[in-house]
Amino acid sequence: MKAVILVGGQGSRLRPLTCRTPKPMLPLVNQPFIEWMLLRLRDYGIRDVILAVQYLADRFRTALGDGSRLGMNVHIVEEPEPRGTAGAVKHVEHMLDGTTFVFNGDVMTDLDLQAMLDFHRERGSKVTISLTPVDDPTQFGLVETERDGRVRRFLEKPRAEDITTNLVNAGTYLIEPEIFRYVPPNQFYMFERGLFPVVLQTGDPMYGFPSRAYWTDIGKPQTYLDVHHDILIGKVQYHFRGQQIGERVWLEGEAEIHSSAQIVGPVVIGHGTRIGRGTRIIGPTVIGSRCTIGPECQIEGVVMWDGNTIEEGSTLRNCVLGYNNRIGERSHIIDGTIISDECQIGQENRLERGIRIWPGTTLGDRAVSF
Ligand code: GDD
Ligand code: MG
Repeated sequence: MKAVILVGGQGSRLRPLTCRTPKPMLPLVNQPFIEWMLLRLRDYGIRDVILAVQYLADRFRTALGDGSRLGMNVHIVEEPEPRGTAGAVKHVEHMLDGTTFVFNGDVMTDLDLQAMLDFHRERGSKVTISLTPVDDPTQFGLVETERDGRVRRFLEKPRAEDITTNLVNAGTYLIEPEIFRYVPPNQFYMFERGLFPVVLQTGDPMYGFPSRAYWTDIGKPQTYLDVHHDILIGKVQYHFRGQQIGERVWLEGEAEIHSSAQIVGPVVIGHGTRIGRGTRIIGPTVIGSRCTIGPECQIEGVVMWDGNTIEEGSTLRNCVLGYNNRIGERSHIIDGTIISDECQIGQENRLERGIRIWPGTTLGDRAVSF
């Protein structure tokens, strides 16, 4: 059985983290998110995967190649221009050979794929859409079903007054390729606003598969942080790669941790990272590889990618740092701040309230101060 993963979006809601890294390549506990997705498919015996890429396509080629490193066959197919979710699958239709899983490439879930496949087959469905309950369906595709699961209505990004259920499209589909006869070739076409409404009219069997599995769309900064926290506190099953060196503290390789540093799990520390005297690292926190955290720092609720340097006496709380930044002494980076890549932040700055710093930014000493 084959799977298609849609990974061509620009990840605009996650900018600036996605300025240089496509959303599915963002590190999830120090491993590209897409790799986690692929390994999950491999666990289900699905080894043939087509990645429908568009934005920053080369990043996928470099990281995954043909998939053999993961023991899989990964075919990376680039659209000449963005074709939309259904158009992207239409573009690879010739590679499909029967019932196919299609995934949005930005959803963290432990959905039972076998149960979904059984459901699809038992009903003779042509399109099965996984459904999840959410608090605010306006951000998603609302799906109304009949008692037997047949889809009655599909409404992408509904207005508040149109909300009739809290069940939304969870971004995992099972599809019979014949359904692509409704998708015009070489055009931008969406499942959500194009194909699903059309299938409702043609009457082909289309079902919703509701599930209470863990589910989050990582497409926004807060949800990107939340997913890390959920993994670290054990809300979703996750295989940590490092060795456990303390209570819920994992080390991926080797690190230099000063004897007076305090690490309160859940914390993951990447290979080659150094943690200075008197520094406190408090979970849920993930620190990438080759980071240097100077003395007397406070780090709490942080996701930090590889190659960051945090100088003496700085506080980082509930924030995300991309690749290779330098944070000057006694700075405060807090409250949902996002610093992307290769930024130089001088001493004694205070960045807070969800401020977003674009790649390559330099901020002088006390530029944004107390
Ligand atoms: N190849 C390709 N080409 N992929 C695309 C394109 C494209 O033109 N456009 C979007 N994608 C990919 C994105 O990379 C992402 O993995 C997935 O399709 C969904 O796009 P998002 O931009 O993340 O959509 P959304 O989150 O607003 O809404 C979608 O997902 C929700 C669940 O998370 C919809 O499917 C909603 O109905 C659904 O509820
Ligand atoms: Mg999304």
